[in-house]
Amino acid sequence: MKVLIVGGGGREHALAWKIAQSPTLDKLYCAPGNPGMAQVADCINIEADNLESLCNFARKERIDLTVVGPEKPLVMGIVDRFQSNGLKIFGPSRKAAALEGSKVFSKNLMRKYGIPTAEFRSFSDLDHAQRHIVSLNRPLVVKVDGLAAGKGAFVCKTQGETLEAAESILKEKTFGEAGGRIVVEELLEGEEVSILAFTDGNTIVPLESAQDHKALLDGDKGPNTGGMGAYSPVPVVTDELYYSIEKHILVPTIHAMNKEGRPYRGVIYIGLMLTPTGPRVLEYNVRLGDPETQPLLMRFKGDLLPILLAVASGKLETVDFEWDPRAAVCVVMAAGGYPDKYEKGAVIKGLDSVSGSDDIAVFHAGTAGRQGEVVTNGGRVLGVTALGEVVREAQRKAYDAVAKINFKDAYYRKDIAAKAIRPIRTP
Ligand code: AMP
Ligand code: GLY
Repeated sequence: MKVLIVGGGGREHALAWKIAQSPTLDKLYCAPGNPGMAQVADCINIEADNLESLCNFARKERIDLTVVGPEKPLVMGIVDRFQSNGLKIFGPSRKAAALEGSKVFSKNLMRKYGIPTAEFRSFSDLDHAQRHIVSLNRPLVVKVDGLAAGKGAFVCKTQGETLEAAESILKEKTFGEAGGRIVVEELLEGEEVSILAFTDGNTIVPLESAQDHKALLDGDKGPNTGGMGAYSPVPVVTDELYYSIEKHILVPTIHAMNKEGRPYRGVIYIGLMLTPTGPRVLEYNVRLGDPETQPLLMRFKGDLLPILLAVASGKLETVDFEWDPRAAVCVVMAAGGYPDKYEKGAVIKGLDSVSGSDDIAVFHAGTAGRQGEVVTNGGRVLGVTALGEVVREAQRKAYDAVAKINFKDAYYRKDIAAKAIRPIRTP
């Protein structure tokens, strides 16, 4: 089989690493890819949102399956375009990708179908939003309706912050068209977890639980980032809790999309807050999570390719797969200054000293090649991922590997997966 992976971050490197192990793979391409992916695939110089060039490439090379990593091409309709050209592709259609592409759509869907989420209202008019915010006078979250590269949610502790967020989005248009509407919602408290599932619209196969670390600093302090690390499985998600999430959230979401005439095919990511009154949806993503994919795919046993193909062909019921019972931990090494301003081009040293073992993988996220060296080329640079018998061992192995790698101003959290080790109160 000839496979094309669209994207060039840590999630896509993990996908490439896993797919490259498939006995049914003949040739793997990545667009645009990165130096880590180049170890197992041919990287093509086409950006992930250049749908026309991607489609032309897939037709010319007779690609058997295209796997889309990031949300932007999905929301733009890459799946519809490929399918209308007779090409097989893993991911939801444009209409189904609205689950991530529009917060207003996803919140209205949850309200209509009784899927638990934060109470909310949506606004396009600043006056109305201001009146609502003032009338509630309590901590709220303001969200940009459209895609905002992970920067569109403002968790506001005071009324002043909430008003400022609404004004900057609706009046100053800081997010352009994506911010034409906002959602103002109740602030939820609790522990966050990510639940993902493969689905072809009929069969739903949940993946193991995972937890991201969105805040920049140890102890979940500081600004939100794209994710500073992740681990799987998450002890707080017991079998009973997982079952309840499936029953009350996952299955109703897929059914709702069918009823709305937007059948969902691909992988669905549900970001949940485990509140004292039960799990509630914070967000849907229409793709694998980054960095959750890195530990999840380390734990995925067997051949991923037939499963992705089965999803894309509407035949998920025919496949089965297993998980490694061990735990996996991914520590993100970022460029100093991220998520604000950071430098690019620092030489990364020590990568060779951690290769060559089955239970450790260094996934490239923001890297580039320069005269035979690998240099930093983004905020999140590497996802150093390890398997261990228990979380503590996986964590130790990941941090031992991190200690062998260095680049100028490298920053990483020191407490990834600590929540899985420290006893925590179950809501
Ligand atoms: P979102 O883009 O909706 O995933 O939001 C990004 C992050 O903001 C989430 O991962 C949470 O940490 C936080 N967040 C979003 N919505 C809420 C909420 N209603 N209450 C508390 N925190 C939230
Ligand atoms: N890990 C969060 C995300 O992928 O959006």
